Amino acid sequence: MSTTQKVALVTGITGQDGSYLAELLLEKGYQVHGVKRRASSFNTQRIDHIYQDQHETNVNFTLHYGDLTDSTNIIRIIQEVQPDEIYNLGAMSHVKVSFDSPEYVANVDGIGTLRILEAVRILKLEKKTRIYQASTSELYGGLAENKNAAGFYDENSPFYPRSPYGVAKIYGFWITKNYREAYNIYACNGILFNHESPRRGETFVTRKITMATAAIALGKQDCLYLGNLNSQRDWGHAKDYVEAMWRILQQDVAEDYVIATGVTTYIRDFVRFSFAEAGIELAFEGENENETAKIVACNNPEYQLEIGKVVVRVDPQYYRPTEVDLLIGDPSKSKKLGWEPQYDLAGLVKEMVASDLEILKRNR
Ligand code: NAP
Ligand code: GDD
Repeated sequence: MSTTQKVALVTGITGQDGSYLAELLLEKGYQVHGVKRRASSFNTQRIDHIYQDQHETNVNFTLHYGDLTDSTNIIRIIQEVQPDEIYNLGAMSHVKVSFDSPEYVANVDGIGTLRILEAVRILKLEKKTRIYQASTSELYGGLAENKNAAGFYDENSPFYPRSPYGVAKIYGFWITKNYREAYNIYACNGILFNHESPRRGETFVTRKITMATAAIALGKQDCLYLGNLNSQRDWGHAKDYVEAMWRILQQDVAEDYVIATGVTTYIRDFVRFSFAEAGIELAFEGENENETAKIVACNNPEYQLEIGKVVVRVDPQYYRPTEVDLLIGDPSKSKKLGWEPQYDLAGLVKEMVASDLEILKRNR
């Protein structure tokens, strides 16, 4: 290890963002340490390609067993690693599931953030270690009256979280800001709007849609059941968003930033774009629980589907007790970071559908 090599510690390294961030930091020459949870079956699929490399060429990647609910474990790992940068990405990140396990989410997503900050303070690393906290657009709760005059959520928009996940993350946001002000720690919130990729968890709406698109196109699934088709999200690509995380920690002054595309799209339209990517044109009809989408054209020579077949239906079990109807972020401040996303929504959908088609064809 060279004396100038930077050391990063990433919680949530086995997740979507953790895997892209690990790749980015390794490319930049960092020594990367990740915290992974013990599981009864393998949970490292997203980083196996990096881990396997380690046995040949990559000595810069180390995994530590750990959990954000365990303070002593967090303190010990940080003491061993002595990181220059900590990226706290670990979380129970599913909004709907947070209604089923609210206390656990408060512990991991809220108090887990405090555990990281306290560990840095206890170990007297305030001057050495910079901390990135994975905050979220869920903090805004989608209240129309809280958008700025231009119709976006920005760094000054009021928060109104609408789920146990959002409420836990608001604690993480404020405790990060408080430790920055109280102890002069370089600790920042990235208020990231939704970001997706072929590595997105399979129960988030975009991946559920692209996987179903591939499965229906290849005759392996009859119908896709979704919840609220009327909500709108500002979707970017995770690969772009981890670059923004890194940039947030490279500034002279620690600040919080919104990371977004500034474009919002209905869930229904994501479904339409996804099927179109596989050459399938859909028409939606009906409302609420009775809304359906049927095939009106199929232009892919590889597979022919029956015209008129209903392939999307609504199942109210996917509705949430309180919904965030609309998210759209103002990326103006992020320009100060020199950050520009490389993907637009069309590019994101294309990559996700192509990847899911390939996975299913490989397993055929
Ligand atoms: P993800 O794919 O669900 O990954 C979450 C990671 O956290 C996984 O590595 C998971 O480990 C780990 N984790 C869960 N519980 C933990 C615990 N108790 N202790 C330690 N680690 C734990 O989420 P993501 O999409 O990569 O998101 C990364 C972070 O950004 C999360 O904090 C999320 O809330 C936040 N965020 C995400 C978005 C988005 O659109 N993706 C937007 C804004 C903010 P396992 O693999 O073992 O489950
Ligand atoms: N998951 C899911 N499954 N969502 C559905 C479904 C379905 O079958 N049908 C409709 N939706 C709607 C949800 O009601 C929500 O309005 C929208 O699709 C997006 O849901 P998710 O993809 O689960 O993401 P999210 O916006 O709730 O949360 C994600 O983004 C946040 C940032 O805004 C997660 O990644 C959070 O961790 C992140 O903080």
